[in-house]
Amino acid sequence: MNVPMSSPDLTDAERDAVAAVLRTPNLSMGSEILAFEDIFRAYTGSRYAIGVSSGTSGLHLCVRAAGITDGDLVITTPFSFVASANVLLFERAIPIFVDVEASTGNIDPSLVRQATADLRTVGRTAERWLPRRGFSTAYQPPDNPLPLKALLPVDVFGQPADMDPLLETAREFGLKVIEDSCEALGAEYKGRKAGTLGDYGVYAFYPNKQITTGEGAMIITDDEGAASFMRALRNQGRAPGDTWLQHTHLGYNYRLDEMSAALGRLQMTRLEELLQRRQKVADWYEERLSELPGIETPRLSAHTSRVSWFVYVVRFQPGLERDTIAAELGKRGIPARPYFAPIHLQPYMVERFGYQPGDFPITEELGKRSLALPFSGVMEESQVDYICQVLHQVITATL
Ligand SMILES: Cc1ncc(COP(=O)(O)O)c(C=O)c1O
Repeated sequence: MNVPMSSPDLTDAERDAVAAVLRTPNLSMGSEILAFEDIFRAYTGSRYAIGVSSGTSGLHLCVRAAGITDGDLVITTPFSFVASANVLLFERAIPIFVDVEASTGNIDPSLVRQATADLRTVGRTAERWLPRRGFSTAYQPPDNPLPLKALLPVDVFGQPADMDPLLETAREFGLKVIEDSCEALGAEYKGRKAGTLGDYGVYAFYPNKQITTGEGAMIITDDEGAASFMRALRNQGRAPGDTWLQHTHLGYNYRLDEMSAALGRLQMTRLEELLQRRQKVADWYEERLSELPGIETPRLSAHTSRVSWFVYVVRFQPGLERDTIAAELGKRGIPARPYFAPIHLQPYMVERFGYQPGDFPITEELGKRSLALPFSGVMEESQVDYICQVLHQVITATL
């Protein structure tokens, strides 16, 4: 049996909606994107929703809207997909990594608080949070604290970060909060929707996500000025009132096309169904794997009032060779991927900031022991059965 790593969950009505756009003259910036944005405003209760071409471009626009620029510091997590840190580098800001909670893989709010307080203290207390190199103190007059501007937490694998203490730290120290909910559309934190908790939130729609538009994402915010700035930047920096070739700001082409928006609009009408199907597949895995020796199934935090399954990631106990197990699964038609590889140890990060193994031990431990199994809402129970049986055999042979 060959099982795909992930598959989009699409209907003929959704395929027809995309085809219908292709029979109109408006393939970009038409009525579909407006309708798609309206759905997100209604769904989240946020005042503004801005459809964009990817999660990365959405996060980048939030970084610009937050006024983050050369040499600014932003506290974020090394246990994420690289895009959440890269968007800071795009603006020549410095990601300040802090380690994560072992149970969820989400950024540790007590470390964030400590880092924030230390970075805001004048003197040498800040140093332990700074990278070994690639950090310029040129912007720091000796009697001023470092230019710490924002927090960028990530809702990892569809489970919200512990946002309340993060928001409290942000309020106390006057920091903006960009919530990377690219993996968490539909998740809830203490009954509140993931993505709506900070100043800006971003949901992404790559084909392995809860809903898909092919490529695409949605930014939400209640900040009117930021929303209109991000709309302008999305469209080559054209502010309201600008003409076709007048550009008030340095902008980008981060537009979401009409075909993608039409697909997303219809997918959103099925969000509950899509989330429930993913929950069912996660339950099938849990039933079969929770008792298997050597393996830990995903752990949910008490704050997670609803998990929105993005991927299904298991952890192997120390002593079990994750990569050997993944290779054995691969030989039997089951793709499986390490998830995540720590950002601070990516070659370009090491080169620039001088990070070393051991800098963020929990992230590194999770990076070594975690494996994402095939996952999507269209999986059959027989596929999950097969994967779990093979995993059982491989682990038993290894133990
Ligand atoms: C946590 C996180 N942030 C950002 C992104 C970037 O989204 P995109 O691939 O749509 O650019 C992803 C994508 O998988 C992600 O998982």
